[in-house]
Amino acid sequence: MKTVIANWKMNPQSLREAEGIFKSIKKKILKLKETEVVICPPSIYVNKLSTLNKSNLLNLGAQDIFYQEKGSWTGKLSPKMLREIGASFVILGHSENRQLGENNEIVNLKIKLALKNRLGPIICIGEKKRDNEGDYFSFLEDQLLSALKGIGSSFSKKLVIAYEPVWAIGKASKKIIKPKDLLQIVIFIKKILADKYGIENLEKIKILYGGSVSPLNVEELIREGGINGFLVGRDSLIPENFIKILKIVEKQF
Ligand code: PGA
Repeated sequence: MKTVIANWKMNPQSLREAEGIFKSIKKKILKLKETEVVICPPSIYVNKLSTLNKSNLLNLGAQDIFYQEKGSWTGKLSPKMLREIGASFVILGHSENRQLGENNEIVNLKIKLALKNRLGPIICIGEKKRDNEGDYFSFLEDQLLSALKGIGSSFSKKLVIAYEPVWAIGKASKKIIKPKDLLQIVIFIKKILADKYGIENLEKIKILYGGSVSPLNVEELIREGGINGFLVGRDSLIPENFIKILKIVEKQF
């Protein structure tokens, strides 16, 4: 089973538009057998979209949670609240949140709380830039191991790792990672996961790629990049493009 996640970020600006995009995607989703689709709209739309999702053809997710379960935290949303209104996944550690000050420790707390509340964590890691010395490998290892600190192998089947190099987010579709470079990172991530969780648990953990994913680049990335799917930003708001991506992923079986 492959997984494709839509990260709508702070879009669209009205519930009506959100419903429109959601319905357009849902209409075309009927034929997918091998691809799990998760739509992560702004949290305020999750409740309404879940009422349009009675047949559960799509999964809904949130884009963040707070790292405390409840209490006096103005403006924050707890994992339980999001679970209750229909989310079953949550994107955590996205580089746009890390840029606002979220550190590895907070990401780790959020992942633990998500798991406790039965929200599947989509754990984002990714280097800001690449250097010739390969320092980004140790940066990625540190991000990954800090995120997974204290999380045992019994949770491995719930984990989704999204490799999103920051330099590839929001760019032109041609200016992203080459499949062979992606494969190298995927092998590196798998080695770390195998050391932590044992080779027998490796297959349970999904590794996705994100960063300017579009119908123009998904085919070679899924064929040669060693990944289990994608985290899609901009093109997940354009139903026509998102459906094209889903069809290409579905075809890779
Ligand atoms: P993008 O965003 O597809 O628009 O580059 C991806 C992401 O930030 O998750």
